[in-house]
Amino acid sequence: MKWSEVYLSGRWYESYPSQLKGDEIARRREKAAQALDRESSRVWGDPIGKLKDCRGTVDLSGDCPRIGTEEEYPGNREELMDALRSLMPWRKGPLSYFGVDIDAEWRSNLKWDRVAPMLPDLKGKRVCDVGCNNGYYLLRMLREEPELLLGIDPVARYWFNHRLHQLFIGDDRFQMELFGAEDLDLFPRFFDVVFYMGILYHRRSPIDSLSAVAGAMKPGGTLIVECSGIPGEEPYCLIPESRYLKAPGYWFLPTAPALVNMLNRTGFTDMELFHTHKLEFNEQRQTDWARFESLEHFLDESDDSLTVEGYPAPVRLYVRARRKG
Ligand SMILES: C[S@@+](CC[C@H](N)C(=O)[O-])C[C@H]1O[C@@H](n2cnc3c(N)ncnc32)[C@H](O)[C@@H]1O
Repeated sequence: MKWSEVYLSGRWYESYPSQLKGDEIARRREKAAQALDRESSRVWGDPIGKLKDCRGTVDLSGDCPRIGTEEEYPGNREELMDALRSLMPWRKGPLSYFGVDIDAEWRSNLKWDRVAPMLPDLKGKRVCDVGCNNGYYLLRMLREEPELLLGIDPVARYWFNHRLHQLFIGDDRFQMELFGAEDLDLFPRFFDVVFYMGILYHRRSPIDSLSAVAGAMKPGGTLIVECSGIPGEEPYCLIPESRYLKAPGYWFLPTAPALVNMLNRTGFTDMELFHTHKLEFNEQRQTDWARFESLEHFLDESDDSLTVEGYPAPVRLYVRARRKG
């Protein structure tokens, strides 16, 4: 069976016939699915295709979601290691699969600890994590008994992370689509809770993208935005000349008041800036599972308040907002 067929066989959205346009979702899925069958996706698909479908003990109670214990894995351990290594670099974590502990580039548990106290009760809720990456935050939410946990991320590699979760957890409430933030129009007034973390500054049109988020939320729903920004008390944005932290994909870095104003103008209310901090090396760093350059290589060697380009180093801004009703 082709990987695209595996992906397309999971039609969770058909459970919502009166709320979602199934035909349009199916059309965009067909298009997105092609990436899974590309030659370049075999680097993940081949090793993951060898893994056994098996349910281990799942412990989602701590900083590190633990999926299976070492003794429980019935297959060949080298094949398991090959599959996990194929998904390097692991950006978000920590995670553990059948006793293999993955120390990812980001200690995502720190972000989760800031966000979790700001969340409503997730029981029975529809939740969307936009840019879900390997699904770390979705795993942290699974035991809250939501109705639906949908991660969207257009990067094929992260669907293979989800494939691991299908094999080892297999919970139908936990779904992942190869969609981007630009596909949120598929879900009109659908979600109770949306996470928009690490995304906004990567969008070329941040105001339009927040309006699209608002359109996908039920009135009164909760939005969590976490965003790279710059220090400052005035509502301004930094637009880097070309690169920021060596990356070309940073378009608008707002101050906290600018971020609040953007939300105010795109359908949100009750904004609460609940956390800001300067990103530290203990949160984003090179590890054995993420061997590429990391934060320490992106800041000025002699002054870590500046990026290598000479811009202010990023502060992370965390805002909770409510969809206007
Ligand atoms: C900086 S990471 C943030 C990951 C995670 N949300 C977090 O806060 O830790 C950005 C994520 O956005 C994903 N991404 C890339 N293009 C996207 C798009 N068009 N829409 C939504 N997410 C996208 C990337 O694959 C990556 O997983």
